Amino acid sequence: MNKEKQKILITGGLGFIGSHTVVELQIAGYEVIIIDDLSNSKIEVLDGITSITGIKPEYVNLDLKEKDKVANFFENHKIKGVIHFAASKAVGESVEQPLKYYENNITTLVYLLMEMEKNKVNNFIFSSSCTIYGQADELPITEKAPIKIAESPYGNTKQIGEEIIKDTSKISDLQAIALRYFNPVGAHDSIKIGELPIGVPQNLIPFVTQTAAGIRKELSVFGDDYPTKDGTAVRDYIHVVDLAKAHIAALQRLISGKNKEKMEFFNVGTGTGSSVLEVIQTFEKVSGKHLNYKIVGRREGDITSAYADTSFANKELNWKTKLGLEEALASAWKWQLKQLKQ
Ligand code: WQD
Repeated sequence: MNKEKQKILITGGLGFIGSHTVVELQIAGYEVIIIDDLSNSKIEVLDGITSITGIKPEYVNLDLKEKDKVANFFENHKIKGVIHFAASKAVGESVEQPLKYYENNITTLVYLLMEMEKNKVNNFIFSSSCTIYGQADELPITEKAPIKIAESPYGNTKQIGEEIIKDTSKISDLQAIALRYFNPVGAHDSIKIGELPIGVPQNLIPFVTQTAAGIRKELSVFGDDYPTKDGTAVRDYIHVVDLAKAHIAALQRLISGKNKEKMEFFNVGTGTGSSVLEVIQTFEKVSGKHLNYKIVGRREGDITSAYADTSFANKELNWKTKLGLEEALASAWKWQLKQLKQ
């Protein structure tokens, strides 16, 4: 069966990473169908995707918590593979509303896997997170790093999700890859799609761009007493377009049967750590804006440092990041300026 006829389901395909992955899938020649309940995304993203590729993806507004609707979807669509982004992802919110996270992130995964098994859909890419490592004992972090007790219900849903998929792949034809994202940032260079945080941004980069745009008064830097080069916490900020391309590489690995295990795990990052102050300095350089910030106390649950050992993904997926922090921050800023004009 040639690629053109291969239909790929993207759950959460109107979200930040999902929409960028839809674009790359279409460019790679796949037919895409999106399920998204618009709980953390906007229908206008569909136009953004279409304006980039010229191909309007099929879209179904469906809540994956409704098991019958999930069953009906699979009975009416011939799907070659699934990339599963749909989940709640705010760490702080998950601490305040754990049951919302267990229901939305676990129940939906179980229903999806049940219907995939019934309909013999065997290629599955799971959106996982470096959060599952907690504060790793060794840096950079490899896929063999021990999984620590989750610091939040959000992180726990990613750990439990990986276990559910692994157990299912052992007794069925399911083949799966969990991509453990580091910190996704930036926007497509067309600036027709990008990050759309709802309310006050929890993550660093949208808060930086909103501060520079005058939407926020000043950025609070959560702690400068960490044992790092400048005292601020270190993360591996990966451009969302590079991250999207890792999903295409992973999907092609499964479809071509090149996977060496029924379930595989890959750390997806740049391999470079950047501190909060380095992010601020780089942002000021690429935007030409002065950023208003103040140092405050550490945020509960934050770790000191996390950045990926990308050698396994580089080798096995034949994939590596091409864009660095400067391009990521420049695209995030361009996207923010465009939002101001809306
Ligand atoms: C990055 C750094 C903060 C905001 C989380 C999830 C992870 C993924 C990405 C979903 C930290 C500091 C932040 C601010 C700050 N989420 N910071 N001031 O916490 O590394 O990862 O989001 O997939 O799973 O765990 O990302 O962007 O919140 O923070 O100083 O206003 O910026 O302390 O050091 P994080 P983040």
